[in-house]
Amino acid sequence: MHIETVIHKNLEARLIDEICIIKDDSWQHGMANQKKWLDENVAAEDIHLLIRNNKNNLIGYANFAHRNAVINQGKYQVFGLGNVCVAAEFKGKGIGAELMSSINNEINSKGYIVILHCKEDLESFYSKFGWEIIDRSLIVTEYNLDNIWTMIQGLNTRIDSLTIQGIAF
Ligand SMILES: CC(C)(COP(=O)(O)OP(=O)(O)OC[C@H]1O[C@@H](n2cnc3c(N)ncnc32)[C@H](O)[C@@H]1OP(=O)(O)O)[C@@H](O)C(=O)NCCC(=O)NCCS
Repeated sequence: MHIETVIHKNLEARLIDEICIIKDDSWQHGMANQKKWLDENVAAEDIHLLIRNNKNNLIGYANFAHRNAVINQGKYQVFGLGNVCVAAEFKGKGIGAELMSSINNEINSKGYIVILHCKEDLESFYSKFGWEIIDRSLIVTEYNLDNIWTMIQGLNTRIDSLTIQGIAF
């Protein structure tokens, strides 16, 4: 198993197809909509994380989206972690755990601050890998966070307020 990171602007058509296929296993919108979503929501410098098995199949995926944030009145460049998923036939076999430890290695080795949004039932999954909940009452976003949890990794400061700028990730 190995991890590959690719900057969005360098993504070849073959990789776009692979990403759309793995995402469609978890969020079934069809290939055309997956491609449209990538086009409209991923910026040139955003980062794709790809986990491949020894046969070189894409079995895990996530992306890091650049965002500006204001934390306790200080300006920060952060990443939004999105689209965390494992290929259908590989779910429940420890690949999600491998993906999260690769993501944590990226965060720790590069000193990133990374935020994610998830539904309540996934909070326990991310907590296993050191993600911490941010109280919703402290967060301002340009999109709706009803029933959505927000978690953070890589910041060692208590959060009193958080504003995330830009679209959801
Ligand atoms: C969530 C997901 C990435 C987990 O990947 P996975 O390969 O199935 O997970 P693993 O087999 O590595 O499990 C690792 C641990 O997380 C737990 N876990 C897995 N899925 C979980 C879930 N949905 N909720 C809570 N815990 C979960 C496992 O029980 C395991 O715990 P253990 O180590 O104590 O036994 C995968 O199920 C998936 O692609 N889901 C659909 C997409 C999705 O909802 N992504 C999240 C977007 S915020």
